[in-house]
Amino acid sequence: MIDIAKIKRQLKTSIFGKYIYHLPEIDSTNSYAQRLAHEGAPEGTIVITDFQTKGRGRQIRKWESSKESNILMSLILRPSLKIEHVIKITLATADILISSLEKILQKSRHDHIRFTVKWPNDILANGKKIGGILTESSLRDKEVVFVIVGLGLNVNQDLSELSSKTRDIATSLCHETQENFERESIAAEIISSFEKKYFYLERTDYADVIGDWKKHCACDGQAIAVETHTGTETGYYVDINDNGALIYRTENGLEKELISGSIKYI
Ligand code: BTN
Repeated sequence: MIDIAKIKRQLKTSIFGKYIYHLPEIDSTNSYAQRLAHEGAPEGTIVITDFQTKGRGRQIRKWESSKESNILMSLILRPSLKIEHVIKITLATADILISSLEKILQKSRHDHIRFTVKWPNDILANGKKIGGILTESSLRDKEVVFVIVGLGLNVNQDLSELSSKTRDIATSLCHETQENFERESIAAEIISSFEKKYFYLERTDYADVIGDWKKHCACDGQAIAVETHTGTETGYYVDINDNGALIYRTENGLEKELISGSIKYI
């Protein structure tokens, strides 16, 4: 079981992780964090579990994770942001996760792994998915009351325990390095980096988010399949705009913008 005292000892934060709720098993840390936030839990409250029975991904997908193997956590935020800018928190979280992973692997001298981001929030290690972010907001009169940032990171995941569909596209730190990692120090690193970056973003009005995100995205001109609720279209990755929306070019040369959806590299 993950040791919360061990995480707390390694935190370099002022408010994030002051309250950590640890449930050995839960439906979804995001759902639990939502319930806490509705009851008034303060910013920086964190929910961590060792196993989710209904782990959720974006677009009604499931998030698979074996028991006591990975990082499954949700952070409660109460940002002063308009709803259309909440995507910036998701994009910033991808940057935070990648920077944390690079730092951790440098320490263990496994710096040959290349971490990238796939729009909007898939974290890839050597081209395979190692982590995901599920951001959910609660609104009152169009104002953001709270945001839940859910993070799933495959740390010691044995790929053979995943469904065949997931196994083909996923990886884990231990699969890439052939080493097991201490989940507590990774969680502490992510939470500490998160607080530092989040406070900085609030002070600077989220100005650097898009530029920082682009540094991790090596996909200019990449052939993609764009999946929306209306269907799939193939084209080429062009950029993301200032609102975090994807810009892509269709097969017949038309430039299009996608605010919400997902892409596959083809
Ligand atoms: C995605 O890539 O589709 C997002 C995956 C997010 C998974 C995490 S695991 C912790 C938190 N609780 C959930 O139910 N989902 C997020």
